[in-house]
Amino acid sequence: MSRRPFVAGNWKMHKTAAEAAEFVGRLAARLPAEVDVALCPPFTALAEAAAAAAGLRIAIYAQNMHQAASGAYTGEISAEMILDTGAQGVLLGHSERRQLFGETDEGVNAKLAVAHEAGLWAIVAVGETEAEREAGETERVLRRQVEGALCDIGSDRVAETTIAYEPVWAIGTGRTATPAMAQAAHAEIRAILAELYGDEAAEAVRIQYGGSVKPDNAAGLFSEDEIDGGLIGGASLTVEDFSAILAAAVP
Ligand code: PGA
Repeated sequence: MSRRPFVAGNWKMHKTAAEAAEFVGRLAARLPAEVDVALCPPFTALAEAAAAAAGLRIAIYAQNMHQAASGAYTGEISAEMILDTGAQGVLLGHSERRQLFGETDEGVNAKLAVAHEAGLWAIVAVGETEAEREAGETERVLRRQVEGALCDIGSDRVAETTIAYEPVWAIGTGRTATPAMAQAAHAEIRAILAELYGDEAAEAVRIQYGGSVKPDNAAGLFSEDEIDGGLIGGASLTVEDFSAILAAAVP
């Protein structure tokens, strides 16, 4: 099965609305036809980014959401509010959300179910810490996170979900997993998906690699057959670096 490459830029807490719109405008001329592209701006830039991306092949994803439809959740936003900005998707379970803001597998699962119900695409991030890898627990952690996020999510919905494998020790550190290490983790994730949904559904799910992907290492990672693109942090902040990574994803 050949999956279309999918590269997303996770801007984290960077860029104003005006900067986001300007970025989208400049990226527009540098979109390879063979690659699906998404940007995850901060909440305050979603509407401007979505307006700038209208009619372009750039999907706009929020970086988080709350699972409730509305209510007394100070500082949170709902799926409907994300849709209201014109964005089409949401990133869930990023390791910074898990480590700094107490995100749990159960929480990611609740958010994913609500996102699907609302018609939002989702990227679910999973990945082990350095201590977990050194203790030989990588597979167990990935299984817990993947099974936890997808609990009671039907096979019709799993195709709308992208998994991002992001080893925590590689995020923002300049230490990338080698292509072979990433390929092995992706194969483990796909095997878990096959247990849950069968081979055909598992083959259709795109699995991105994230963690210090840069223009000079992207092609090596993307050449592995289990690596279907990337979730890019720091290198998604400039059009030059991000478009070089998009070019490296062209099969
Ligand atoms: P990085 O971040 O590319 O800056 O390592 C990746 C991510 O956290 O999604």
